[in-house]
Amino acid sequence: MTPAVKTIAAVRDAVAQARQRGLSIGLVPTMGALHEGHVSLIRAARDENGFVVVSIFVNPAQFGPQEDLARYPRPLQQDLEICARERVDLAFVPDVPEMYPPGFRTYLEVKELTDVLCGPSRPGHFRGVATVVLKLFNIIGPDVAYFGQKDAQQARIIEQMVRDLNMTVRLRICPIVREPDGLALSSRNQYLDPNQRREASVLYRALSEARTRIDEGERDAARLQRLMTDRIAATAGAAIDYIAVVDADTLRPIERLEGEVLLAVAVKFGATRLIDNVKLQVPPSCACSAAE
Ligand code: PAJ
Repeated sequence: MTPAVKTIAAVRDAVAQARQRGLSIGLVPTMGALHEGHVSLIRAARDENGFVVVSIFVNPAQFGPQEDLARYPRPLQQDLEICARERVDLAFVPDVPEMYPPGFRTYLEVKELTDVLCGPSRPGHFRGVATVVLKLFNIIGPDVAYFGQKDAQQARIIEQMVRDLNMTVRLRICPIVREPDGLALSSRNQYLDPNQRREASVLYRALSEARTRIDEGERDAARLQRLMTDRIAATAGAAIDYIAVVDADTLRPIERLEGEVLLAVAVKFGATRLIDNVKLQVPPSCACSAAE
């Protein structure tokens, strides 16, 4: 069984011992309810480090008052079994007062990148994410930390934080793991009823169709946005939050596609909000092939 520790003192102790043995430290921050997406990060960490820590903490600071903090799944025993199977060395499972003791007052703000995409519909969310990830980095001191491209904006914000604050941790952003029908794995998928679950695959179908158009030479962002919007809006249970074509670095909308581009969507099925994205490197369009 993977040992699980609840206190900052205990995790620091275990990590210090691993360091003394000359092991590199890999950290996979999670909120638990582990699935194959998380497992892909754990495997990457296991491949590249002598000592792997998985943190499991449902971080209240990143949930809005109307969000699913109370009902967020917390299958701790099952998570620890997955950790054991994946040869995780240590699970860090603090409770809320351990991370946010009475009198806690400091939050981290990453400007601009937090105002776009998911920012407007989740005020304070990324501030909560950046704060807890910074705390986890300070508590554990990993050499490498693993995040998923599934949460593209989160990954970009953490990258910016590491750069701006001169942190030495190296980041690995791992590819999105999907169900056979294309739905990105998420702990929130279990909220979907069977009908919503079927409908939810439209997100990846819309993104894939846009990618095909780009491969065929489409470079106009508005047309791609319309294509994805039409596809998703045609699904009865889908309520669009945003459908965006943005620069992968600034996360700001673009008009013409070139360089690193992110197609990103957020759609609600009933009360469940799902996000998905495709990141791609777009070569300048070749006028000759377009004319052919
Ligand atoms: P959580 O949603 O549990 O996700 C933990 C990590 O798993 C994140 O880096 C996320 O991008 C990655 N992940 C989730 N689904 C994935 C998928 N289908 N494929 C690949 N990676 C996937 O993201 C958080 O927790 C929190 O915000 C956290 C960073 C832990 C801070 O509280």
